[in-house]
Amino acid sequence: MPHTHCPPTDFIRLPLPGPECYAAPLQRPAHVGEDWLEPAQRAYTSDEHAVWDDLFIRQMKVLPGRAAMAFLEGLERLDLSGGVPEFGPLSEKLQAMTGWSVVPVPMLIPDHVFFWHLANRRFPAGNFIRSRQCFDYIEEPDVFHDVFGHVPLLTDPTYADYMQEYGRAGWKAMQHNRLKALGALYWYTLEFGLIMEGDDLRAYGAGILSGPSEAVFAIEAQSPNRIMLNVDRVMRTDYVIDDLQPTYFVIESFRDLYHQTVERDFDRLYRSLGAGFTYANTAVIDVDNVVSRGSLEYHLRGGRGSGAAPV
Ligand SMILES: [Fe+2]
Repeated sequence: MPHTHCPPTDFIRLPLPGPECYAAPLQRPAHVGEDWLEPAQRAYTSDEHAVWDDLFIRQMKVLPGRAAMAFLEGLERLDLSGGVPEFGPLSEKLQAMTGWSVVPVPMLIPDHVFFWHLANRRFPAGNFIRSRQCFDYIEEPDVFHDVFGHVPLLTDPTYADYMQEYGRAGWKAMQHNRLKALGALYWYTLEFGLIMEGDDLRAYGAGILSGPSEAVFAIEAQSPNRIMLNVDRVMRTDYVIDDLQPTYFVIESFRDLYHQTVERDFDRLYRSLGAGFTYANTAVIDVDNVVSRGSLEYHLRGGRGSGAAPV
């Protein structure tokens, strides 16, 4: 049975989880509102704008031919080169295309607040950019990851609808205490998803598109498994947060992703899921529709920090 402590919501006002609904213990900074939004987007220094530009240039050396076509088109339509974008004009453009806007948040925000913004077609993006010392790897998503990685695809109507539905689904997952499973779905689609374009694999996940080496690894390396997305299976699968993925899941199209998830009876699915994950992130199982089975060499050699080549 759903937890009665997270009542149904219409998403108009911020829904508040009851005391028995698990919520990460994040402290809201004093200067942000109940909605966890910063009062204004911060003013970036010229050095910080230069960090954006250098990151942008680095990504554009690897993404053509590896990033989803819709991503590259969105990037061009939104014109995201030339320093950290101003969210105001960016949101106006997005509004006109798919009704989305981008809003600044100080840090990772609580799940229920994040879901609420998505359900209202507002994408929360970090109000800071990484320093040059953390050029390659950051723990908390910054404005480059959020805006460069996620926002171009919000120009695609189907992806845009999926993102909103994900926000609505979040509240349901909280009711069932199954945020971990829904988090795996986010991870294997919006962060690290691959898409078939004709006979070619392309990346659409923001974690791949905004990072220095994962686009090449995800598309070309022998190590990782590539498996067609199956929502039931993915929501039972563990994932790594601080290294390249041992397994990527592939969609046929954003329409396919939308139908596989939005038309599913999640109440029923959540009732059948255990609290933990069933499958290791390296596993290939009987029901998998395997695109290519990986050697797992990179991970078997120790992965990040071991000196293993991402092959
Ligand atoms: Fe992200």
